[in-house]
Amino acid sequence: MDEKTIKHLIEIAKKNLERNWTGKYTKPSPQLYPHQWNWDSGFISIGYSHFNLNKARQEILSLFEAQWANGMLPHIVFNPNVSGYFPGADFWNSKLSPQAPKNIYTSGLTMPAVHSTVCLIIYKNQKNNPDKDFLKFMFEKLKKLHSFFYDYRDPNKEGLVYIRHPWESGMDNSPSWDHPLERINLTKVKIPSYKRVDNTIVSPENRPTKEDYDRYVYLVAQSKKHNYDEKLIFSESVFLIQDPLFNSILCKANEDLIEIASILKEDSSQIKEWYEQTKRSINDKLWNEEERYYTCFDLYANKQIKPGSVSGLLPIYGGIPDLKRAQLIIDKLNSPSFSNNGGETYLVPTYDMQSKEFNPVKYWRGPVWININWFLYNGLRRYNFHSQAERVLQDTFDLISRYGFYEYFNPKRNLNDFSSGAYGGNHFSWSSALFIDLFSKYLN
Ligand code: GLC
Repeated sequence: MDEKTIKHLIEIAKKNLERNWTGKYTKPSPQLYPHQWNWDSGFISIGYSHFNLNKARQEILSLFEAQWANGMLPHIVFNPNVSGYFPGADFWNSKLSPQAPKNIYTSGLTMPAVHSTVCLIIYKNQKNNPDKDFLKFMFEKLKKLHSFFYDYRDPNKEGLVYIRHPWESGMDNSPSWDHPLERINLTKVKIPSYKRVDNTIVSPENRPTKEDYDRYVYLVAQSKKHNYDEKLIFSESVFLIQDPLFNSILCKANEDLIEIASILKEDSSQIKEWYEQTKRSINDKLWNEEERYYTCFDLYANKQIKPGSVSGLLPIYGGIPDLKRAQLIIDKLNSPSFSNNGGETYLVPTYDMQSKEFNPVKYWRGPVWININWFLYNGLRRYNFHSQAERVLQDTFDLISRYGFYEYFNPKRNLNDFSSGAYGGNHFSWSSALFIDLFSKYLN
């Protein structure tokens, strides 16, 4: 990792963000994702906060314009001037819900709540010129977003929120969803007709399958049937999952919202309760004693899902495990499931490399993603696992300098064909933005 190359890559990363900037928000990637995406904008804003605070704030403001009346922040905000994306605004028809904003078209589900964390990072990156106006403007909106999760997505009032669609996790086709999704019997249910475009822009081999999409579309059709009413969807859905990463992100966001409240001298007692309860419940309910890391809980079947997802390592990002469990997570990270002692793999594959479900080229079934490396890096530093954190940094550098700012990467180092290890969209915004954050000490 030499300084000259890092600085050069930072310049390319900035250009990528420039290229994907629309004047209002930043596209995740030029062709594949032309609208505004929820957690993408969070990551993108973190990148901007190092060199353009106005854009960092604008990215978040644009996203929150589309917040629903019940507090939900939709996973896609549609740009009315762009067509040719599936699933587009017509497909979602968000106007079915009285909660949806009147003049903005959105999707009808949400994503991980990174935004309080992002707003605090923006505030801190103002350095010598601390301005509280943005935080003041955002505080109630952020609190409303957190309330949405605890009011509508925590049926047992245990501080653990569920996702009701794989797209909500941000890890669309993770093998963790396979079993719950099999409850949707494709030979028995009616799937509305639809036409994908993602697999015409990038190789279908690297994207979710037709069966995956049929089930995604089916779940959306079910929620449309209920006009996106959360309670009705809950009463009927076969896909209701409490995911460790989703809940750890919310827990960390609570921690950061408490800090924001203290900066603004606002009351944070409710947020503290959420924080404590979520932390406790992740430890009580999502820890898997056999595999010794965390895993998802399937609310429909009332049991844990087989461990395997990198999501199970990431409670360290939220400061959830005690030191003993954090050490067990490091053992798991160092095991052949997620690393290779000979250094033949890049950190961190998104699924257990020793499982039969692992696929190094298919989206969230194994490839390395830069946002996951960012969560891991921050979690490792939080627990002072500095040499592991350095490895994440080194591997992230190795991938980006070898292939460029792609969407996701093959974890295997020794591929014969050097051009075949990076997939999905190029000039990808969050790979660029989070690279800037990870290497921000090299910024001029
Ligand atoms: C895919 C990813 C999701 C991301 C979106 C836009 O759906 O799985 O995490 O937010 O693309 O980049």
